[in-house]
Amino acid sequence: MSSIAEQPVPAFGTFDYVTEREQEVKAHTGSIAFDGLSDPILLAQDMSGGCGGKIWKCANVMIDYFIWKNNQLRGKLFEDQKIVEIGSGTGLVGLAVAKLCPAIKQMVITDQIPMMGLMQENIKLNHLEQSVKADVLNWGEAIPAMSQVLDADVILASDCIYLEVAFIPLLETFFALTNKPTSVIYLTYRKRRNADKLFFQAAKKKFTFKDITEDPMMKVYMRDKMHLFRVTRKPLNQQQLQAFHKQEASE
Ligand SMILES: C[S@@+](CC[C@H](N)C(=O)[O-])C[C@H]1O[C@@H](n2cnc3c(N)ncnc32)[C@H](O)[C@@H]1O
Repeated sequence: MSSIAEQPVPAFGTFDYVTEREQEVKAHTGSIAFDGLSDPILLAQDMSGGCGGKIWKCANVMIDYFIWKNNQLRGKLFEDQKIVEIGSGTGLVGLAVAKLCPAIKQMVITDQIPMMGLMQENIKLNHLEQSVKADVLNWGEAIPAMSQVLDADVILASDCIYLEVAFIPLLETFFALTNKPTSVIYLTYRKRRNADKLFFQAAKKKFTFKDITEDPMMKVYMRDKMHLFRVTRKPLNQQQLQAFHKQEASE
């Protein structure tokens, strides 16, 4: 895993979202080093705006995988690609990817309004104003046609499946963001409750999920019930295509 100093992991199966949420961090700014990332990430954490104000373990899983993958690809991961992160919280994943992959086209980190200040601060702390933008993206809300979050090649979602009321809005946002037929979602997920399966049941109607089995750390994080998926949208059938075009024409 990453070289982040972490709290001891609770015994297998004993954690849930509430327990994790209660492991509050005091507002502070620190330096987060990852093995394989040349510079540490400077990161302000502050939970006064919500649960996203601290680092969640799923973020480390995703970053460690991208560091490994970038090595495999000899530094060419996400070259010239537009990347949108949703539910970014502190923005750690997006910032780490922007540092790791300086040849990306653009990185947009998004969350709800209360997280904007923290994300902006973290962009500045890492001098990434040129390549990383912060934007508001509420899951389930319509995305304006000119929004900078559309036409992404890659969508990142770290630990966003945890609130049952948000399952369908989250799926709607995945659907809206994958407007480019080639776009790919990387998703880290930590299983906490059986109700999570409702998300996957609904999601699998429209998306294909593949565990990223090439990740050398997979066995380690799976002990903590974490998963890393590569998700792609299923092709629309004829009827769905017609409905899609009809809706587009009316907009
Ligand atoms: C568990 S935190 C994960 C934060 C970060 N991705 C990480 O892995 O460290 C979930 C994030 O999703 C965001 N979120 C929750 N509901 C949302 C919604 N309806 N629209 C947009 N973002 C939402 C929260 O604000 C929070 O930042």
